[in-house]
Amino acid sequence: MLDVGLGQGTQALRLARAGHEVTGLESDPAMLDAVREALSAEPAGIRERVRLIEGDGRDTGAHFLPGAFDVVLCHGVLMYVPEPDPMLAALARVLAPGGLLSLLVRNADALALRPGLQGDWDGALAAFDSPAYTNRIGLSVRADRREELTTTLTAIGAPLHTWYGVRVFTDLAPDDSGVPDDWDRLLEAEDRAGRTDPYRAVAALLHLCGVRGGA
Ligand SMILES: C[S@@+](CC[C@H](N)C(=O)[O-])C[C@H]1O[C@@H](n2cnc3c(N)ncnc32)[C@H](O)[C@@H]1O
Repeated sequence: MLDVGLGQGTQALRLARAGHEVTGLESDPAMLDAVREALSAEPAGIRERVRLIEGDGRDTGAHFLPGAFDVVLCHGVLMYVPEPDPMLAALARVLAPGGLLSLLVRNADALALRPGLQGDWDGALAAFDSPAYTNRIGLSVRADRREELTTTLTAIGAPLHTWYGVRVFTDLAPDDSGVPDDWDRLLEAEDRAGRTDPYRAVAALLHLCGVRGGA
């Protein structure tokens, strides 16, 4: 598996613990140091399943052969990429036939919800007309529309197979809110909404799964 923009390695570590061979491609050396530190606390068998490479997700051709991976994850990264299509094409190229491209993106179709529910009317009105937004850590980033990504996935030979909404009910929860006692029920409700129309369409994030060579 290839995890592009693996950040602190949350997904990569879980996948390695589950028995997968994971390569992490990350542009920020400080993040790679954090992953190395987290890995050092893992048993040798798990450490050996993770390979880390410093680089840009748009340059997969410089690092990997075509069709090298069964799964490519790109979670929480497209927001930072001004032009998503070249990045997505680079990811599709290293995917084996039948392989899965897993994208987690900010949902541009529901961008007005967060400011609107917070009573920020100027922010809500602006969000209808632009995919640009300021994220929780104050960076100017961008969101993606499902329809546009669906078109791109078809064009790069990894058509959309399935999609989910992520953070339907909990988008306004503060980052430091901690794990609530009813965590299981919260997850059950989020999971249900994330798979159900019309809720999933207005989730803060979208999880899109394309399949290389899929119908
Ligand atoms: C919000 S974090 C997401 C981390 C992880 N994927 C997750 O879901 O928890 C975004 C990460 O993508 C990295 N990143 C942003 N643009 C990138 C690019 N063009 N190529 C590789 N990594 C990139 C950032 O350095 C950061 O570590």
